[in-house]
Amino acid sequence: MTQTDRWATWLSGLRTCGDVASRQRGFERIIGWRDRILENAELRAGETLLDVGCGERLVGFGALERGAGTVVFSDISQDLLDFCKEKARELGVLDRSRFMRAAAENLAQIESESADVVAMRSVLIYVDDKKSAFDEFFRVLRPGGRLSLFEPINRFAQTGGDTWLGYDVTAVGEAARKVRSFYEAIQPPDSDPMFAFDERDLVDLVRNAGFFPIHLQLESAIEAPLLRSWDTFAGVPANPRIPALADALEQVLDSEERARFVAHLRPRVEEGRGVSRTCIAFLTGVKPGVARSA
Ligand SMILES: C[S@@+](CC[C@H](N)C(=O)[O-])C[C@H]1O[C@@H](n2cnc3c(N)ncnc32)[C@H](O)[C@@H]1O
Repeated sequence: MTQTDRWATWLSGLRTCGDVASRQRGFERIIGWRDRILENAELRAGETLLDVGCGERLVGFGALERGAGTVVFSDISQDLLDFCKEKARELGVLDRSRFMRAAAENLAQIESESADVVAMRSVLIYVDDKKSAFDEFFRVLRPGGRLSLFEPINRFAQTGGDTWLGYDVTAVGEAARKVRSFYEAIQPPDSDPMFAFDERDLVDLVRNAGFFPIHLQLESAIEAPLLRSWDTFAGVPANPRIPALADALEQVLDSEERARFVAHLRPRVEEGRGVSRTCIAFLTGVKPGVARSA
């Protein structure tokens, strides 16, 4: 299949970038998150799960393995839906799968009260109108249905000052400021949907949509960064809305500044001489009402 849209291109780039060992570590971490999303959802055999922003099938296939009766794969990317459909065919689970091109904030194609579980990983960070998304999740769930999601809280990672992505850039401060300004012009931290919220906003949104009870598990870590090759660090964009660092450097630094910036940053990245700040939220909510008997 030819993957063309930016979401499909970015996800397949992540799947193939870097060395095998670091990819494997990243994959194991994501599988662990996926399992927690599904455990928190208390998915039961035969139930219908809506995987919002399904990407390359991570959550939906986990649900099918756990005995979901039907998984509705939804995403804004037709390429990713086609990818999931092909994988479902290969695995012989097409009859338990449906595919729907839809944005989280408008699930009009999905009937009200038709899902037992709405689940997702790392999708709301891309959604501007989070309120509409939570209203839609509430609408499509049956009474007693569960919402289970995972989102990174990127605000926690923002440090500014003399660090860039957790690496000390004091010695190349002027270049670092240009790089930071370049990225902040594309994704202003105070208004971009990836950065302009935290776990309290998520809890409020879930509560205001009508869910009760609600549970939040928040995990923060300040630790050594995962070791990455320079090619991965500089060559793969952190998200599909921004250019990779190598492209940004081309655009904002002259060749001398670029050489100094890379000479400074590269060994720090490759040797893990930085500080990684991460915060992730697992959130569940129940749509009040009596669950139908399975
Ligand atoms: C970081 S990927 C996560 C994919 C998948 N959930 C996983 O865990 O591997 C984000 C996904 O959200 C999708 N997406 C982005 N904006 C969306 C929106 N407004 N509504 C629904 N999906 C969206 C993208 O196409 C992409 O598949």
